Amino acid sequence: MEIIRVKDAQAGGQKAFELIAAAMDQGAKVLGLATGSTPITLYREMIASDRDFSTMTSVNLDEYVGLDGTNPQSYRYFMNENLFNQKPFKESFVPNGKASDLAAECARYDEVIANHPIDVQILGIGRNGHIGFNEPGTPFASKTHEVQLTASTIEANKRFFDSVEDVPTKAVSMGIASIMSSKNIILMAYGKDKAEAILGTVSGPVTEDVPASVLQNHPHVTIIVDDAAASLLK
Ligand code: F6R
Repeated sequence: MEIIRVKDAQAGGQKAFELIAAAMDQGAKVLGLATGSTPITLYREMIASDRDFSTMTSVNLDEYVGLDGTNPQSYRYFMNENLFNQKPFKESFVPNGKASDLAAECARYDEVIANHPIDVQILGIGRNGHIGFNEPGTPFASKTHEVQLTASTIEANKRFFDSVEDVPTKAVSMGIASIMSSKNIILMAYGKDKAEAILGTVSGPVTEDVPASVLQNHPHVTIIVDDAAASLLK
């Protein structure tokens, strides 16, 4: 694991973009993307750059169950607003949260991942150490699956909704095994709320109780953190 300390989220976005640009120069064609607050500075860098992404494919980590892409709270909508409308990709995959058969949708998404092996996977991290929507206790061998969101994740995500009751309680998430099959992984974390999760990720035991700790077993992981998120590291 390489740990890069940056002064703030803006510098973190710049650093992550440098790493992605270098990977693209070496032939990377598929980016695994995340939503939430953390990757926004990276997406701003991508939009501001003169790079062309129209030959690139993206595969997103997750989507809420019950929301379709026209819903402003959906992750598909988030990606369109924060990246794709300004920087079109050749194709962009996000799980379909409105699929009538979610088991079939999960299997379809696993096929998408198998057919588009991810060169660089971008990750944020939950306060409880989740990656994607793989909450504590998710088996490391998991592939795309339906997830019951924990109370802490619903609480953390309510800021995007009118009220906590409006936050969907389920999601479809890429599994931990799928994330681990990416060639390179960049995890970003900013702010003191993430400090404990980063401590567990970097130097805690590798345990399903802290999903991101599995990254200690991956050969090419870069963790970009500001001082607050790194504050519990030795
Ligand atoms: C989002 C995702 C989540 C977030 C995590 C952190 O696609 O998979 O794991 O990365 O919940 O969210 P923020 O960045 O909003 O703190």
